[in-house]
This record gives sequence, C-alpha cells and structure tokens, in this order.
Amino acid sequence: MGTPPLLDATNVVAYLRSRGVDVAADARVTDLSDAGVSSIVFAVAGPGDDDPGVVVKRARGELAVAEPWTAPRERTLTEGHALELATRVARDWSPPLLDLDEDTLTLTMGHAPSGWQTWKELLLSNDPRPEVASRMGRLLAGWHGAAQTHPDAMAQFDQSEAFEKLRVAPYYRVAAGRNPDVRALVKDVCERMLATRSALVHGDFSPKNILVGDGSWLIDFEVAHVGDPAFDVAFLVNHLALKSIHLPRMAHGFRLAADSFLLSYGANAAGSLAEVATSQHVFQQLGCLMLARVDGKSPAEYLDREGRDRARAVAKSLLLDPVEDVSTAWRRIAASAVDSERVA
Ligand SMILES: Nc1ncnc2c1ncn2[C@@H]1O[C@H](COP(=O)(O)OP(=O)(O)O)[C@@H](O)[C@H]1O
Ligand SMILES: [Mg+2]
Repeated sequence: MGTPPLLDATNVVAYLRSRGVDVAADARVTDLSDAGVSSIVFAVAGPGDDDPGVVVKRARGELAVAEPWTAPRERTLTEGHALELATRVARDWSPPLLDLDEDTLTLTMGHAPSGWQTWKELLLSNDPRPEVASRMGRLLAGWHGAAQTHPDAMAQFDQSEAFEKLRVAPYYRVAAGRNPDVRALVKDVCERMLATRSALVHGDFSPKNILVGDGSWLIDFEVAHVGDPAFDVAFLVNHLALKSIHLPRMAHGFRLAADSFLLSYGANAAGSLAEVATSQHVFQQLGCLMLARVDGKSPAEYLDREGRDRARAVAKSLLLDPVEDVSTAWRRIAASAVDSERVA
C-alpha cells in the first residue's frame, strides 16, 4: 500500500465529504494532533450548531518524538475494529465509528459533546473525581472481559506488532537496557506479560484517552490486543503515581482515584480477572512502567530532574521489594520526597 496524500486542515473537509460523512463544506477544522504523538487528528464541526461534529484520525508511520520510532499504520484499522466492538461491549462508552477507510487507513468517529474534557485535564486542575476512576474500573473490566464475552471478535486483535513497537521495545526493553541493576526483573515481568493472553487489552489506558462530561468515553484503541490485563491496570495507576510525584500536594487525591479505580475493577471483573487488581504482578508492572516513563523512549515531559530521580527510586523499590496495595505504593512515593530532600 502506497502512502496516501497528506491529510491536512485544507483538505480534510473535502476528504470527509468524498467519504459520504455529513459535514458542511465550510465546516470549522481544529487540529488536535498536538495532543498526541502517534496520529494526525482533526476535529471537524458538525453541520448544525448543536452537532458536536466528527473526529478524523490517521496513524503516523513515524512518531512525533525526539528519538526515531516507527510503528505499522494498520493500527488505525485495529482502532476502527475496536470502536465497533466497544459499541457491542458497552454502548455509550466510546465514540460511534462513522467511517473506516481501509485504503488510506483513516477513521472517522463522533466528536464528544461540547464541554467534555479529558480526565487528564480534570486531574491536573486538582479535580481527581474518584467517581470517574470508579467508572473507569468498571469500563476496563468490561473491555478486558470481551476476550470471554465476545470471542468471535478476538481474531481482529490477535496482533502483537503494534504493541511490540509502541510499548514493549520502547518502554520495557529500553528502560531495562538503561538500568542493569533491575534488568532481569523487568525482563521477567515483560516475559510474563507476553505469555499472558487472558484479556482484551486497550494498550493506552491513560487519563488523556478518557473523555469526561455527563458520561465518559474511552478513545485511542490503536494498540488493542489480546494480552495481559495487568498492563492496562498498571498503566493507569502509573499515570496517577507519576502525577503524585510531580504535584505532591495533590498526591492524596490521586491515591484515592487509584484506590477507587482498582476497587471497582476488582468488583466488576469476571472470573480470574478479578484478582488482577490486587496482584503483585500489577505493582511490578507499575514499577516497570514508572521506570519506562523516566528511562524509556517516551519520558513523562512534566517531570524535572528531582521528579525523575524519585520516580526511578520508587520504580526500583516496587521491583526489588514488591507490594500488593495502593497505600504501600503511595507511602513509598511520599517517602521518596523525604529521601530526596535528605540527599539535597
Ligand atoms: N471522539 C473524540 N471526541 C473529542 N475529542 C477527541 C476525540 N478523539 C480524540 N479526541 C481528542 O484528540 C486527542 C488525540 O486523539 P487520540 O485518539 O488520543 O490520538 P493519539 O493517538 O495521537 O493520542 C485526544 O486526547 C482528545 O483530546
Ligand atoms: Mg491519545
């Protein structure tokens, strides 16, 4: 497949109309690409004033980060199939898929109602909303369980290339390579993850991919695959943990959100998935992912030098001296602030 013509703010409306998507010829176009590194994303206003419009998305071959990083563009198809499945698993918990263009690898979905925000924006404005965390636990448990409830659809997610290129290599392998003292432990956790195929994993379960208003939507399913549920669970807790290091005065709220999320996941997950939230493996995954956001290829941009040192220390402690609950993990986060003051 050749590279399709560039999708940009000047041709996206014509493109949508050529696909039969209902947008006005003079519709307003907003570039949302800056919000993410892996895709070209545009919001296009709807034909009516009260119509929130659509979002068009096409995966980049080369990611917008400092270090060279490529991933297969077919992940847009994975995302389209996931949006279709999401409608079957839990209606209203993801945007409706309006068009999936297999020739140019472009998808079009409904835009969230006006006034909705990402959960990341709410978290950073000191409004952690434990009820959103709780809803996310329920949503994720349902999504993971699709491997059992919708087995017919799983062949579409039986792929590992995007996950390998977007997560395993840049996160686990790079971070392990840069930290010889925990290399073997990171490798063990990674191998266990790659050998587990018990859930439909989202792969980017981050607060910036959760849109919140009077309902909530999960978006950005590019890396969806059949794999290890602990990855998604730890991925979200890691965002809350890193933000607790970055914004210590809000750490308590983030801990409550992490608690609500894990509790709700455990209460709503079926069968063996229910044990995931309280397993040591989840907190070891948390250690790997924390280390990855300091020493991997996609470092958390908001951490300063001290924050990175603290995150690295907490990450290693979670690997070397495993924990099984949020309170202990957050105590280590708090202690790392005291330790770093002592060193300074
Ligand atoms: N359906 C949607 N409705 C409203 N905003 C959206 C929608 N889809 C994406 N966005 C916004 O665009 C941003 C980037 O989209 P996303 O699918 O997450 O792409 P990327 O893979 O680049 O992260 C999101 O963080 C969100 O702010
Ligand atoms: Mg995103």
